[in-house]
Amino acid sequence: MIKCTGHYGSPARIAADVHALLLFSNPSAADAAIARIAPGLQGVVKQLRASGQFTGKADERVAVPTAESRFILVGLGAMEELTIERLRRAGAQAARAVSHASKLAVYCPLDEHVRKIPAVSFPDAVTAMAEGALLALYKYDAFVGKKKQEKSTQLSEILIATVDEGFQSRMKDAIQHALVLAEAVEYARNLSNAPANVLHPEALAREAVALGKKLLVNTVVLNRSEIATNKMGGLLAVNRGSEHEPRFIVMEYNDKKRRLKPWVLVGKGITFDSGGLSIKPASAMEDMKTDMSGAAVVLATIMAAAKLKLPLRIVGLIPVTDNMTGGAAMCPGDIITMSDGSTVEVLNTDAEGRLILADALVYAQRYKPAGVIDVATLTGAIVVALATHATGMMGTDADMMNALREAGERCHERVWELPLYEEYGTMLESDVADMKNVAGRWGGAITAAAFLRHFAGDAPWVHLDIAGTSTFEKATDYHPKGATGIGVRLLTEFLRTRGAE
Ligand code: BES
Ligand code: MN
Ligand code: ZN
Repeated sequence: MIKCTGHYGSPARIAADVHALLLFSNPSAADAAIARIAPGLQGVVKQLRASGQFTGKADERVAVPTAESRFILVGLGAMEELTIERLRRAGAQAARAVSHASKLAVYCPLDEHVRKIPAVSFPDAVTAMAEGALLALYKYDAFVGKKKQEKSTQLSEILIATVDEGFQSRMKDAIQHALVLAEAVEYARNLSNAPANVLHPEALAREAVALGKKLLVNTVVLNRSEIATNKMGGLLAVNRGSEHEPRFIVMEYNDKKRRLKPWVLVGKGITFDSGGLSIKPASAMEDMKTDMSGAAVVLATIMAAAKLKLPLRIVGLIPVTDNMTGGAAMCPGDIITMSDGSTVEVLNTDAEGRLILADALVYAQRYKPAGVIDVATLTGAIVVALATHATGMMGTDADMMNALREAGERCHERVWELPLYEEYGTMLESDVADMKNVAGRWGGAITAAAFLRHFAGDAPWVHLDIAGTSTFEKATDYHPKGATGIGVRLLTEFLRTRGAE
């Protein structure tokens, strides 16, 4: 992780190679900010505005044409419309503008002169700027030769700066929060981006154990025979076509040994999804190393929660296997028995996520949870419905879903609820078993959730389908191409506000 620190002073006093000024499009506000931060630039900024090269609108960015190009300007749009997300994007813009310097200072646009912004506090602004910059600098280069690696960014430190002395003391915690979140997101992205030949089920379980050791989070991994003892028929059935043993990861964060009802997080851990015998076409299989993104989100959220020392009890449950086509693979038409005793007719082996999650949801009930949230790259249908801009949400508890929606707005990892009417459950009725695992083409994201609902018990439960949001085909703002880690900041924010209640 790149260093990130807070500083008081102007560019004359702050030792950075490049200084980024975030400016509003309101000319008077921008001019006043320049006068306070870098009075020497007043003339150039006026010229840039007059020539239309920099007007301060959102996402605009220019290098100030001075010697050494020490300054860049990033637009924030109108002051009255400032949002946290704008600041995140501006931080990202600044970080992405710098390629051959090691220290970047980013100046906070909020100070004692700028107080009329209703939605944004100074600490939130600092966190957002740091978060955006740190998240934007991520690159998956675990398998890239040294030479090629060096061509990417040379940044070694982000300095968040304020010219308002009174605000200085409020920076440290705000930056620390951003560092914890960015590190957790990076961790999730690394796991999701890791190829399936490296991050196979045993490796993912080992990673969880290593993480648990580091965080002092109690971690237990069930092996194949223990999974069999628990009668997890869904996980075992999906695993039948594999050369790798399945795993079931159980983590519990409870630093003060609190006697609380836990929040249980369940993550889909399919290390590769070939579709099984209902095999995927090649183009649909290309990205399926990321089918354990839900698992990565759960691990990274536990990481963030432990580092933030949230006053909660949190349990992570992760069923892990790949979905392959070996000779013993389950066949379409097979009838399997799940850990709660219900039977499932597997008509499509590519609907495997719900089979392994069902066993995990049954396992979750032994904790008498405060709430259960499962996170999964579950359906292509959710991508059809929401594209990559929102995570699909369905569940049984309106309060939890409201809290998740609000948390999602704050961190810009937005969720959108789809209905889960009883009727969707009837679409899964089978002639030969208690239910079938697919219901045909329509409402595919919802019928997948309706399947899970059957195993979720009485505790408040919410399902998050991240199939569209967990990986991006193109880099955008502070998300690189590939794994986004979306879900980590959402769940951390959700849990943080539970801790504050
Ligand atoms: N892992 C996939 C879902 C997926 C699709 C994730 C695209 C990310 C991008 C899941 O296991 C799957 O294959 N779902 C099937 C379900 C169908 C057979 C009912 C799907 O969505 O096609
Ligand atoms: Mn599948
Ligand atoms: Zn899958």
